[in-house]
Amino acid sequence: MVHKVKAVVVREKNAPVSLETILVPDPGPGEALVDILTCGVCHTDLHYKLGGIGDEFPYLLGHEATGVVSSVGEGVTEVAPGDRVILNWRAVCGQCRACAKGQPQYCFNTANATQKMTLEDGTELSPALGIGAFAEKTLVAAGQCTKVDEDADPAAVGLLGCGVMAGIGAAINTGGVKRGESVAVIGCGGVGIAAIAGAKLAGATTIIAVDIDDNKIEMARSLGATHGVNSRTADPVEAIRELTGGNGADVVIEAVGRPETYKQAFYARDLAGRVVLVGVPTPEMQLELPLLDVFGRGGSLKSSWYGDCLPSRDFPMLVQHYKQGNLDLDAFVSERISIDQVEEAFEKMHEGKVLRSVVEISSVVEIESAATPA
Ligand SMILES: NC(=O)c1ccc[n+]([C@@H]2O[C@H](COP(=O)([O-])OP(=O)(O)OC[C@H]3O[C@@H](n4cnc5c(N)ncnc54)[C@H](O)[C@@H]3O)[C@@H](O)[C@H]2O)c1
Ligand SMILES: [Zn+2]
Ligand SMILES: [Zn+2]
Repeated sequence: MVHKVKAVVVREKNAPVSLETILVPDPGPGEALVDILTCGVCHTDLHYKLGGIGDEFPYLLGHEATGVVSSVGEGVTEVAPGDRVILNWRAVCGQCRACAKGQPQYCFNTANATQKMTLEDGTELSPALGIGAFAEKTLVAAGQCTKVDEDADPAAVGLLGCGVMAGIGAAINTGGVKRGESVAVIGCGGVGIAAIAGAKLAGATTIIAVDIDDNKIEMARSLGATHGVNSRTADPVEAIRELTGGNGADVVIEAVGRPETYKQAFYARDLAGRVVLVGVPTPEMQLELPLLDVFGRGGSLKSSWYGDCLPSRDFPMLVQHYKQGNLDLDAFVSERISIDQVEEAFEKMHEGKVLRSVVEISSVVEIESAATPA
């Protein structure tokens, strides 16, 4: 059976997104069909729309989602119909050289669905991060479904599917933040503020939020930042050094994805400190740094892909922290919108008005299934 559902598609570079009918096949071997409940609007969706990630239009956007498994293909044992899941973009293979070294968080051969979802005319869609969840249903590899408790608000825990996990993981996994350390985060959108929440969870005692927008700095304070710096009005490197006894922070997390903010991160850390780049740059960006400073300042310069997370380990653990009141995921949900409001959500993101707009799908539309010849 092929399912006809509504979904958010961008047909060409920088075109406005459109709500289209798409065709989603039943799951084949190793695949799962998921009824989407919620999907957050992440900056990476905007990168896709602007052509910053690839040129494989049309893209089926959305990747920060929760849903309920509706059916599974042959050989699938990890999830079953009816399971509440957060979708992930790291279904590890267990066999590549990273997995073989016992480092599945770097898996170089992650799985997505093998079958294609298409427009009604048969044009194949490229699902964002192999997910495509601004849709009533989507088709993924079964390993992309991480089972979680049903008694948590899906709009909140779904954010662990991308941005919030990327930020928390940048602090606790990639940055290895420890109790008592100082952490500065440059860029306080959903990802950066999640890094702040992660630093707090890990026990950092000085947490400095840097942004160009006072609203974001206020939000960061409410989620764990002990200090705020507006880098439009103050030099962030000087300010971070001042707040850390003149030394710089133990860990500086860059959550914007620009050379100038990376440089700030580089110089705002203490000697032998760690810089973590979690913001995603675009292809034309270049970085120039004196090699002597790279050597002389020591420490480590790391990039964080998806917060170096292992979904099966980290999602259920963070859902527990949410339920126990240690991690306020509700605060990341700035607004709940319907599936036809994604374009407006991009504008609000651009204007810095929201941490996360979350599309709620079940509340809006009825799912229509059709026995269309494939
Ligand atoms: N590494 C990963 O796995 C991963 C995963 C998800 C998102 N990301 C990336 O993380 C970045 C942030 O995503 P987001 O969803 O939080 O975006 P966002 O747009 O919500 O937030 C960006 C924040 O940066 C601030 N900012 C912009 N320019 C700045 C500057 N010069 N100095 C200080 N602050 C500045 C903005 O005011 C805003 O608060 C994006 O590049 C996104 O693609 C990475
Ligand atoms: Zn692997
Ligand atoms: Zn994302």
